[in-house]
Amino acid sequence: MDYERTKQDLELRGQAHLLEYYGELSEEERQQLFADIGCTNFAAVKNLDAGSKKLGKITPVNAVSSEDIKRRYSQFESVGLDFLAQGKVAAVLLAGGQGSRLGFKGPKGMFDIGVTRKLSIFEQQMNNISDVTAKTGRYFHLFIMTSRTNNDETVKFFEDNNYFGYPSDMVHFYIQDVAPTCDYNGKVFLDQKHRVSLAPNGNGGWYSSLVNSGLARVLERDNIEWLNVYSVDNVLQRICDPVFIGATVIKGAHSGAKVVKKVCAEEKVGVLCNEDGKPTIVEYFEMPEDLKNKTKKGELVYRYGVILNYLFNVHDLNLTLSGKLPYHLANKAIPHMENGVRVTPSEPCGYKPETLVVDMVKMMGSCLAYEVEREKEFAPVKNAVGCDSVETARELLRKNGVVL
Ligand code: UTP
Repeated sequence: MDYERTKQDLELRGQAHLLEYYGELSEEERQQLFADIGCTNFAAVKNLDAGSKKLGKITPVNAVSSEDIKRRYSQFESVGLDFLAQGKVAAVLLAGGQGSRLGFKGPKGMFDIGVTRKLSIFEQQMNNISDVTAKTGRYFHLFIMTSRTNNDETVKFFEDNNYFGYPSDMVHFYIQDVAPTCDYNGKVFLDQKHRVSLAPNGNGGWYSSLVNSGLARVLERDNIEWLNVYSVDNVLQRICDPVFIGATVIKGAHSGAKVVKKVCAEEKVGVLCNEDGKPTIVEYFEMPEDLKNKTKKGELVYRYGVILNYLFNVHDLNLTLSGKLPYHLANKAIPHMENGVRVTPSEPCGYKPETLVVDMVKMMGSCLAYEVEREKEFAPVKNAVGCDSVETARELLRKNGVVL
């Protein structure tokens, strides 16, 4: 890359400070800096107020309730099992997050949730998968999205643990794309004098990153029609649940979302609703107070919280690739260069732009809300202590018969 051209280009973008230490760098470091600049998506930090848009007309969704599911269980299940037996469904584990709230150094899935024995979150989730493969007698492809930071450790952990008994040729790791972090004025941070601060671009990047990694060839080759996307931080996650698959297929939806009834109006989960007639997920901090508290026959009207377990139709996902997911700005403490020194702030000092999987639901056009029992399927490990913590997740695992 040519210094003058890069400088001009950065000046036009208001980002020329990225060359501030150029004069101090070795030739190798200069190449590294240019390589980072070359893969920096400056569009992510262009419109810093783009995330705070006005909501359209919000209306409640009709969910397939847990009573409906009980009634039609065998019908849904047999369709789902059939799809799985034909290899039409694969799973995508989102494991590219930073897990900053948990404060665990290392990939979140490696966190040991065991008490008297070792039990990593990854192992617990792989055990959940074996419930399904035992029924279908067939393994499904499992794509694992990691980040630049945690990929090697994650891959090694799976190798060292013999893929938890899963066939290794059915497990495919890929690294999530990145977006630059920036200060509150949109100036991209330098992480080191010769490194741009690039962080995982949010869990909405999962499909485009999969395509960019070249793995979409597996989807095409094996005629995979549905992807079940799930988060690493729910130890009760049911993966490739045949009943959920069957219900989504039978209902003719382009996507499906597992939801739980909110425990109270204030619970901090995104809620599946319709916005201007299209499915959408309204984050708890975006939900207007009157809608949040609205009740009918003693029940919250907007009661279905999402648990980051979705089904997406692959054909429809491909149509969304040409669209653009909005960036949301997470306010974070970001290490960066300041006056020649690398600082590690303990308080938020800038933005990490993130695309969110919840925005993909809207692009899909239709989404089946599928209600599951919280006590059986939702044990999030977000924090070290308190709400949605290691202790609350352990309690729920015990209730579900898992020996810790
Ligand atoms: P969270 O939104 O809880 O983010 O992720 P996080 O980074 O894991 O944790 P905090 O906010 O720093 O404490 C929900 C799911 O999305 C994945 C996570 O791994 C988790 O499964 N994720 C999140 C990614 O895969 N990539 C990202 O860039 C962000």
